[in-house]
Amino acid sequence: MAIQIAPSILSADFANLERDIVAVAEADWLHVDVMDGHFVPNLTLGLPVVERIAQVSPLPIDAHLMIEDPDRWAPRYAEVGATSVTFHLEAARDPRTIAADLRSLGARASCAIKPGTPVEDVLPLIDTLDMVLIMTVEPGFGGQSFMEDMMPKFRTLRAAVEAAGSDLWIQADGGVARETIATVVESGGDVLVAGSAVYGADDRGGEIRALRELGQE
Ligand code: DX5
Ligand code: ZN
Repeated sequence: MAIQIAPSILSADFANLERDIVAVAEADWLHVDVMDGHFVPNLTLGLPVVERIAQVSPLPIDAHLMIEDPDRWAPRYAEVGATSVTFHLEAARDPRTIAADLRSLGARASCAIKPGTPVEDVLPLIDTLDMVLIMTVEPGFGGQSFMEDMMPKFRTLRAAVEAAGSDLWIQADGGVARETIATVVESGGDVLVAGSAVYGADDRGGEIRALRELGQE
């Protein structure tokens, strides 16, 4: 299984964003964390910034919306250029309609679950989604410790995806680093977000290569 690496710009230098975006060009996706200060206790950036990031990024945008009212806002992120849009199940009123709206706009539809949300809640949606994001930290901040106790969720979802004959991707976000990436991949994750691991390294390209190798073994 070929894994994909998605550096999170949450740990980039926001005063030098274009420089830090170009620095991770050999990854597969640019992970952009949108936080509204309500769904999570942190505030980052929104539509106009994502629109500009999409214009300068050599990588497709993987927008992770940690916001309330994704029914209203998620399609807007597809409209401004995000290739993949992830909304949180806990915030969604009608996840099937959000996913259908995203797909109709040509984006990949993705749904995230927080650590306290059972993976079983997302299983009925597999046919409507292109990716499920299983959080491996509480959403809100970079640099937190990887929650290994989330691994059974990956195994359950991977088994369900295989049973359904689906090509849904399974993303891990939070605490993914050299020490943890193999565990996630063994458990069924195939799209790996890494914020502090990549941006904390002096050689961002070298760190992406190291993660890819360790995850692929
Ligand atoms: C956390 C964000 C993550 C964050 C990951 O709420 O969704 O994408 O940037 O950061 P690390 O890789 O440092 O745990
Ligand atoms: Zn994220």
